[in-house]
Amino acid sequence: MEQKTSSTLQVDLGARSYPIHIGTGVFAEAGRLLHTVYSGQRVFVVSNPVVAAHHLVALQQGLSAAGITSEVWQMPDGERAKNWEELYQILGWLLESRAERHTPLIALGGGVVGDLAGLAAALYQRGMPLIQAPTSLLAQVDSSVGGKTAVNHPLGKNMIGAFYQPQQVWIDTNTLATLPPREYISGLAEVVKYGAIRDRNFFDWLEKNTQALLARDPVAVNHAIHQSCRAKAMIVAADERETGERALLNLGHTFGHAIETALGYGQWLHGEAVAVGMVLAGRLSTMACGFEKSEQQRLEQLLATFGLPLTFPNIPPETWMTLMARDKKVSGGKMRFVLLERLGRAVVRQDIEEAALMQVLITSS
Ligand code: NAD
Ligand code: GLY
Repeated sequence: MEQKTSSTLQVDLGARSYPIHIGTGVFAEAGRLLHTVYSGQRVFVVSNPVVAAHHLVALQQGLSAAGITSEVWQMPDGERAKNWEELYQILGWLLESRAERHTPLIALGGGVVGDLAGLAAALYQRGMPLIQAPTSLLAQVDSSVGGKTAVNHPLGKNMIGAFYQPQQVWIDTNTLATLPPREYISGLAEVVKYGAIRDRNFFDWLEKNTQALLARDPVAVNHAIHQSCRAKAMIVAADERETGERALLNLGHTFGHAIETALGYGQWLHGEAVAVGMVLAGRLSTMACGFEKSEQQRLEQLLATFGLPLTFPNIPPETWMTLMARDKKVSGGKMRFVLLERLGRAVVRQDIEEAALMQVLITSS
């Protein structure tokens, strides 16, 4: 591993390609970076009070260093605010502020802010430029890259949304200093996911660097974010609209979304639900995909070492089935599961027998 604390990647999407800037102090460069794609002096920022209290000043200073002024909307904190009403309020604010369609919108926050502000940017006057400035680990390694934007509906998570790519992603790893431990660990679940689905070497590296990552060592953190974003960028470049390979990013998510919906948004953190989802997917994989038990145990051990949950809440099997059947990954009435053939190789399977699924749910509860 190179001893780097900053790096840049590119998401290759033709005319809509964009850079991901990762490093300590990226926000100090915000104005300079923005001026590579935008010549104006006015931007809009969506954040929330928690993130704004810690990181808005650094971002605004970076913008004003290039003469850019920012107007800020603070939405309420938390997953429950990722809804249609909040989206509508942001659109109203943009209209009242007479935002023009070429003026950028910067999403400063975790995945909730990024998803909701991203959808607002997609909708406002049929699309205004979007900059993702993710501040949670989960948003830095996953939600800020790839263009999925959404709000939740009471009947399902992320059910109302659009694909809308940002023009740049600014990952200032200094922001992680204020991220609560539980949130940081939740983000590590998505990091593990990349190793599990397509990068065995990275999985090995994670096993050897758990303590450095838990200590938020800047070099280890940069490497983990870089490798995660690199994997995501490659998958998104190959399959932007999730007609094939991109579905692999959903390892653990069919189960995870069911947990989040069953318990009400916000009870379990997204990464925690995904971690348990990966445990269940791993166990189903040993039954249906030839995933070796020793590898399943390695996966569970790594998640446990990071402090992620392995056991799931008390949800009756019938409720699981109902919730999972409502998931976006259902196609032609059949549930699709991302399963593991081995660490570093995932597949999508649509032929899983209900009996096998029930057995995993019952024996894991
Ligand atoms: P979040 O946005 O709710 O952030 C978690 C908490 O940490 C919040 O309280 C937030 O205010 C706080 N926070 C964020 N950054 C902070 C910082 N630097 N210092 C202190 N506090 C900070 O949740 P999340 O885990 O970032 O994201 C979860 C959301 O992302 C879910 O809604 C999920 O559906 C979505 N998601 C989207 C995609 C995608 O591709 N679009 C992928 C994965 C997850
Ligand atoms: N987080 C899943 C995706 O971006 O496709």
